[in-house]
Amino acid sequence: MAISFRQIFPEPKEVPLEAVPDSFASLGDRVAGRPYTVANFVSSLDGRATIGGRSAPLSGPSDRALFHTLRESVDAVIAGTNTLRVERYGRMIKDPAARERRAQRGLAPEPLAVVVSRTGQVPYEIPLFSEPEARIVEFTGADAPRPVAAQRELIRLRPEEVSLRGAMERLRTVHGVRTLLCEGGPTLFGALVAENLVDELYLTTTPLLVGGESNPAILAGPPLAEPAGLELSSVLERDGSLFLRFAFRS
Ligand SMILES: NC(=O)c1ccc[n+]([C@@H]2O[C@H](COP(=O)([O-])OP(=O)(O)OC[C@H]3O[C@@H](n4cnc5c(N)ncnc54)[C@H](OP(=O)(O)O)[C@@H]3O)[C@@H](O)[C@H]2O)c1
Repeated sequence: MAISFRQIFPEPKEVPLEAVPDSFASLGDRVAGRPYTVANFVSSLDGRATIGGRSAPLSGPSDRALFHTLRESVDAVIAGTNTLRVERYGRMIKDPAARERRAQRGLAPEPLAVVVSRTGQVPYEIPLFSEPEARIVEFTGADAPRPVAAQRELIRLRPEEVSLRGAMERLRTVHGVRTLLCEGGPTLFGALVAENLVDELYLTTTPLLVGGESNPAILAGPPLAEPAGLELSSVLERDGSLFLRFAFRS
């Protein structure tokens, strides 16, 4: 069934799912030296990013559809090592029709998976690493990372040399990554925002109240030196959830 959203802002109209991540092809031109980076999160009305350690209970069918459509639109996807572990990441695009649609738009059939770890505590047991068709770039501070069946390029550095900015620059200049989707979690997102490496935020708010100190907000880590300012680009609605899109003010 074709999914569409009710746009509330800027102007009221129906927006088909495929049109939500508009202009992605040209977004890479907006920044130089690193990928144009879009973060995607779901949260409850009280700002929680998990229920009992998982994001899935916050995410309904429309949010999941948008999650996959964003993946379908980008050159690469980054997720923190805890998110990879908890959400048990596998192949980036499982649907052959979606891989075909990407190829028709001049993209690789699947986005590159980006892993950054200073400690080397990477969950190699998740399906992503045993998938021969998965393409991974792993920046690691570990001496001897485990062999994997996936197509993986290892960038080995001293732990103190592993940096998100360095990884971003290399992704753009060496791997040609023009658009990058950050799928969280809160710790990685906090570090990316602190380094001014994020350009847009897609935030789904689900009409649930969750509570619980153990359920984090979408951004974790030390307080930002300055609160990051964002500008509202659009508001969509479906099934009582709001789908907000913001641009970071530079
Ligand atoms: N609601 C949502 O939309 C959503 C989305 C994603 C995840 N989640 C939830 O969030 C939770 C996981 O998030 P998390 O915050 O615990 O962990 P995370 O952000 O997924 O991963 C954190 C890890 O990223 C690595 N990293 C690499 N470079 C870093 C840097 N410069 N600064 C900080 N970290 C860096 C670190 O590994 P090293 O220490 O090895 O460097 C760190 O331990 C899960 O419960 C998941 O379900 C929710």
